[in-house]
Amino acid sequence: MNILLVGSGGREHALAWKIKQSPLLTRLVATPGNPGMAALCETRAVAATDLAGLLGLAREIAADLVVIGPEMSVAAGLADALNDAGIPCFGPTAAAGQLESSKAFTKAFADRHRLPTARYKTCENAAEAIAALAIFQPPYVVKADGLAAGKGVVIAQDRAAAEAAIDDAFGGGFGEAGSRIVLEEYLEGEIGSLFALSDGETSMVFGWAQDHKRAFDGERGPNTGGMGAYSPAPVFTPELVEQVRTRLVEPAVRGIASEGAPYRGVLFVELMATAEGPKLVEFNARFGDPECQVLMLRLESDLVPYLVACANGTLGQMPPPVWRDAAAICVVLAAKGYPGKAPGGSVIRGADADHGPDVVVFHAGASRGEDGTLRAGSGRALNVCALGPDLRQAKDRAYQAVAAIDWPEGFHRTDIGWRAL
Ligand code: AMP
Ligand code: GLY
Repeated sequence: MNILLVGSGGREHALAWKIKQSPLLTRLVATPGNPGMAALCETRAVAATDLAGLLGLAREIAADLVVIGPEMSVAAGLADALNDAGIPCFGPTAAAGQLESSKAFTKAFADRHRLPTARYKTCENAAEAIAALAIFQPPYVVKADGLAAGKGVVIAQDRAAAEAAIDDAFGGGFGEAGSRIVLEEYLEGEIGSLFALSDGETSMVFGWAQDHKRAFDGERGPNTGGMGAYSPAPVFTPELVEQVRTRLVEPAVRGIASEGAPYRGVLFVELMATAEGPKLVEFNARFGDPECQVLMLRLESDLVPYLVACANGTLGQMPPPVWRDAAAICVVLAAKGYPGKAPGGSVIRGADADHGPDVVVFHAGASRGEDGTLRAGSGRALNVCALGPDLRQAKDRAYQAVAAIDWPEGFHRTDIGWRAL
């Protein structure tokens, strides 16, 4: 098979790494890719939202399957364009992808299909939002409606902080994403990420993990796209997985199909495990980043047949995936200053060294200079991932590799996996 993989982050590097191991693969092309992916497969320079360019590239390489990594490509309608052209595609249409691209859509969708989630109010302007604070209690949850790379949520401890977050959102602090906001009831519990595949009709649980959203140790600092992840996560008891499947995944897949937008791809359910059972925090229309990295390390089964089955409607014929009886962890290395404005361009040394058989370093946001040096971007640069017989050993292996990477301008958390340890 010829496969075109769209995206350039750590998630896509991990997908490329796993797809590369498939005996079904003839040719893998990634676009726009990154230096880590370039060491694994062919890369091209077509941007993840350049629909005409991507369609042309899929045709040029006679792609049997296009795998969409990032939410931007989903929201831009890449799957729609590929479906129209008759090219099989793993990834939902823009209409189905609204489950991620609009929080207001998703909250109303949850109401229509009775998915358990936090009470909420969608607000179109600051005055409306400030008035609506009266119906909630602190801590207040203020969310930008649109895509904000994991940074569009503020948990405000008091009214003044909530009002400041509202003013900031409507003043352009979240960019376009914040022209509408959602206020939400604060949910108490433990957060988790569960992944389900769907071919439009059938769905299948495809692993779970926990990530660390806050920038600094001890869950302090601003929310980020994710500073680390591990799998399995003890919060996912068999009972919780079953509840998420029956109360969130299945009604969502049925619901979105009944609204004329069958969901093909991976549905990422971010949930709060509360005393009343799992409640939806948000859906994403793609694999989590960095959750995908730990899932790919743990996945024993060939990934490609699952991707194909989602694209061609045969997921019901697939057995459940087999996972390694091992723990996986991912430590994110990001430029100091992330998730705020961080300077890019600093030199990273030692990333590509051999860190041992159980360690894989995925590239997330770095470029290769003319002289061959690896230079960081202004966000998350590397994902140091490791597998171990248990989480403690996986963690030790990952942090040994982190210590061998020389990047004074970078930072990482030192406590990934603390909840499970
Ligand atoms: P989101 O972008 O919706 O995933 O939110 C980012 C983070 O904010 C989540 O990972 C949670 O830790 C937190 N969060 C979001 N919504 C709520 C909520 N309703 N109650 C408590 N915490 C929340
Ligand atoms: N790590 C969470 C996300 O991908 O949004």
